[in-house]
Amino acid sequence: MEGFRIRGGQPLQGRVRISGAKNAVLALAPATLLAPGVHRLRNVPRLTDVFTMVELLEGLGCSCHLEEGELHIDTSTVRSLRAPQELVSRMRASFYILGPLLARYGQAEVSLPGGCSFGPRPVDLHLQGLQRLGAQIELQDGYVRARASRLRGTTIELRFPSVGATGNILMAAVLAEGETLLRNAACEPEIVQLGEYLCAMGASIEGLGSPTLHIRGVEQLRPAAVEVIPDRIEAATFLIAAAATQGEVTITHARADHLQTVLEHLQQVGCRLTTTESTITVHMDTLPQPSTTVTAPYPGFPTDLQAQWTAFMLQAPGISRITDTIYPNRFKHIPELQRMGARIELIGNTAIVYGGYPLIGTRVVSSDLRASAALLIAGLIAQGETEVVGIHHIERGYEAIERKLQQLGASIERICVGP
Ligand code: UD1
Repeated sequence: MEGFRIRGGQPLQGRVRISGAKNAVLALAPATLLAPGVHRLRNVPRLTDVFTMVELLEGLGCSCHLEEGELHIDTSTVRSLRAPQELVSRMRASFYILGPLLARYGQAEVSLPGGCSFGPRPVDLHLQGLQRLGAQIELQDGYVRARASRLRGTTIELRFPSVGATGNILMAAVLAEGETLLRNAACEPEIVQLGEYLCAMGASIEGLGSPTLHIRGVEQLRPAAVEVIPDRIEAATFLIAAAATQGEVTITHARADHLQTVLEHLQQVGCRLTTTESTITVHMDTLPQPSTTVTAPYPGFPTDLQAQWTAFMLQAPGISRITDTIYPNRFKHIPELQRMGARIELIGNTAIVYGGYPLIGTRVVSSDLRASAALLIAGLIAQGETEVVGIHHIERGYEAIERKLQQLGASIERICVGP
């Protein structure tokens, strides 16, 4: 198995370029199924999740070509309407193809995603939304089978502003007959970009970035091109890592306006920040103050940064509290951090961090993408050497992480580790 060996104690310094947003690509690529022809996505990161999405689209009959950050998808040769269990279980975002296939071809068959390493992740909101649009849905042998001769616009109110359900319903509603009002929709920048891309393809959507989306269905869409927005989670991970090591780092090709809550948190704990249109510089020369953080849908503090922030707060002398309201079981990084000497108590969905004690490097195992990022941050601040095992998780969502950290002066190398 591959791992990273990190020698801690080196402040991160320098500039690093932020890649395109994984979660935007995972929504934009399925959207291309809505219009036959060649679509062009620029600023696409080389990540295993992106490769899985390409594999899925190729399995449906599309031709895909990824070179120098540009992904061309030719959707004119779709011949299958089925997403197999093997791919959906590898990457939950595969479920995104349900809405577009149903809207464009009148049927689709997608494996149910099941749980993931941080607990149950249902798809009831996706299915209820599509049913409201007139789809007939059957669950059989672990697969969702959806059919509709033509979807019909309606009013849908989500119980929770799910990112995935908003994306799936949006992609279905753009080709439905009549108007759809989607209430309590997700406002994440990746959903805004999906909506803008659909509009570039000829869709009519109002209210993007707000909880109420008004969609007027159209008869057909045409291929389009899009520049993927910067990955706000990768950006914030670098800012947090820089602050945790008491360094000074400028991230480039970033969007500060997508990170307002995170930047406020960084300032509250003592970071100095300077932003321009496309860069953010963090400077930290003291230990952080303890903090209280609660994850929430955008524009709240992202659940995808909960683990990294927890690792950061281990540096803050005093008591910090981090509550995850989105995924109450997303705490697999905690036992690993405890093995490095972290003092953390988990009460329900709140991690209580007793910060200011040294971390000691050891071998730790990552369980999911963001937990891996937290363990890397812990390794960067720990005394001695830390080995992070199970790095295939990190390669799902952080492009060239080891090269980027090396560029900032971190001592990190890829190693082969025994079982
Ligand atoms: C997306 C992101 C993921 C992020 C998450 C929350 C992608 C590819 N992934 O995941 O990185 O952590 O948003 O910001 O964009 N829920 C239901 N029923 C549903 C759907 C969701 O109860 O049908 C619940 C989930 O269990 C969870 C919450 O809603 O508690 C948020 O899930 P959702 O926003 O759907 O996350 P994803 O789209 O899967």
